[in-house]
Amino acid sequence: MPPRKIIIDTDPGQDDAAAIMLALASPELEVIGITAVAGNVPLELTARNARIVAEICGRTDIRIFAGADAPLERKLVTAEHVHGKTGLDGVTLFEPVRPLETGHAVDFIIEMLRREPENSVTLCPLGPLTNIAMALERAPDIAARIEQIVLMGGGYFEGGNITPAAEFNIYVDPEAAALVFGCGTPITMMPLDVTHKVLTTRARVERLRANGNRASVEMANMLEFYERFDEEKYGTDGGPLHDPTVIAWLLDPEMFTGRECNVEIETKSDLTLGATVVDWWRVTERTPNAFVAGGVDAERFFDLFIDRVGRL
Ligand code: RIB
Ligand code: CA
Repeated sequence: MPPRKIIIDTDPGQDDAAAIMLALASPELEVIGITAVAGNVPLELTARNARIVAEICGRTDIRIFAGADAPLERKLVTAEHVHGKTGLDGVTLFEPVRPLETGHAVDFIIEMLRREPENSVTLCPLGPLTNIAMALERAPDIAARIEQIVLMGGGYFEGGNITPAAEFNIYVDPEAAALVFGCGTPITMMPLDVTHKVLTTRARVERLRANGNRASVEMANMLEFYERFDEEKYGTDGGPLHDPTVIAWLLDPEMFTGRECNVEIETKSDLTLGATVVDWWRVTERTPNAFVAGGVDAERFFDLFIDRVGRL
């Protein structure tokens, strides 16, 4: 079976770094490119951070592109309070060897989807959906060519993490999210309802660190920084490891439970802007447009994550 071709769209972010490492460590996947978007920190930093993570994994072959530096219509909201000023606090920072690609991320996404065979490329957005929405707006024909979009974003029973109603990735660019959820491409959504079940407990971080390789040690250092905010906020041992759930879905979907639901995005109300309105109980006639994950086997997730990162 040839590896599945994926494009990771990302705003690193320590949990994005975890997702990139898991993907690069997994032979079932071929990362044909990484596209950076403004989100956790401004674009200049997310683009640099993506390059740093790829090089920590020893992958100077990976093409990395910069994309949107602001949401489609709104001012950028960032999350340095969670990820630190660099967006990757905890890592040993260095200037990456491989330069950023000269083209724009959106042009790269369009070009790859038009060049590769239909339904052969999976998009894995881990941040605000601005790049994906811009690609779909500029080239509506690609919607039918995308194998599926597997994204981290939203929340329903779990509420929000940046406002009481909204999760960060959707909140930053709700218009982009509405466009993506309305594009007709098959979508798998990893919401807070799942990611709040995969916590970077002390024992798990130490298991990761015990791998001893550079990627595992750097990742453990990043998680020790990243989790402090969520431990305080949620009173838990460890913080939610959001983004690698997207990659784990591609590698071992059986570890998740969920159902096909209609998902609409609030783009008008100030009170609930960016809310993902999930018709989990089918109380409307709205057509399901996403597989929404609800449960996950956390031990199986961390066994996969720790084992794979240890192979880098
Ligand atoms: O709400 C969590 C999401 O927002 C994660 O993708 C995190 O990296 C931030 O982008
Ligand atoms: Ca992210």
